[in-house]
Amino acid sequence: MKFFVDTADIDAIAELNETGMVDGVTTNPSLILKSGRDILEVTREICAMVDGPVSAEVVATEADAMISEGRKLAEIAENIAVKVPLTWAGLKTCKTLTSEGKMVNVTLCFSANQALLAAKAGATFISPFVGRLDDVNIDGMDLIGEIRTIYDNFNFQTEILVASIRTVNHVTQSALIGADVITAPPNVLKKLADHPLTENGLAAFMADWAKTGQKIL
Ligand code: G3P
Repeated sequence: MKFFVDTADIDAIAELNETGMVDGVTTNPSLILKSGRDILEVTREICAMVDGPVSAEVVATEADAMISEGRKLAEIAENIAVKVPLTWAGLKTCKTLTSEGKMVNVTLCFSANQALLAAKAGATFISPFVGRLDDVNIDGMDLIGEIRTIYDNFNFQTEILVASIRTVNHVTQSALIGADVITAPPNVLKKLADHPLTENGLAAFMADWAKTGQKIL
């Protein structure tokens, strides 16, 4: 399962990238706002740091304008995945841009039928938002299971990119279901290594090591 980082924060991406855990990056207009950076500049910097797909989102709502924005974003670098919303205009944009050989990430997916449409439009990635479904009392992970079954039934190649991840349990459940990719904020990715028994065990080893009076270096 691939790990994407859901942020436009260059420093956070750089820190995680050093661990070898960053297979790609996802951004959206809210994350660009949070970064305080120009979308074209920051996206170019991210694309230079990361080998994998970097999602950059269009903001037009009509297909013709979305297609033009998508083409401009795709010019930034080879590894751009143009992110479009799951609307009919977004699906038309997806069809057009994928036929030009560009990667497309269809975002704001909240139902299995929406995911079916994205796959039929040739999407490279479908982004179901699990946290936002949980927010309204619908189990987001159930949707991931439904999409996995549907895509496997028809051998769709669209990758399931689980988005709006809020907890480490979302990551575990995504892996168990067989999602292709998760995108998570840096703080959630960092928590994946945490375990109290690891911390306690390390503290005990360090205490005993100090008593030996030895050094390795
Ligand atoms: O990848 C989509 C993600 O940024 C949305 O997350 O937490 O705003 O629902 P959230």
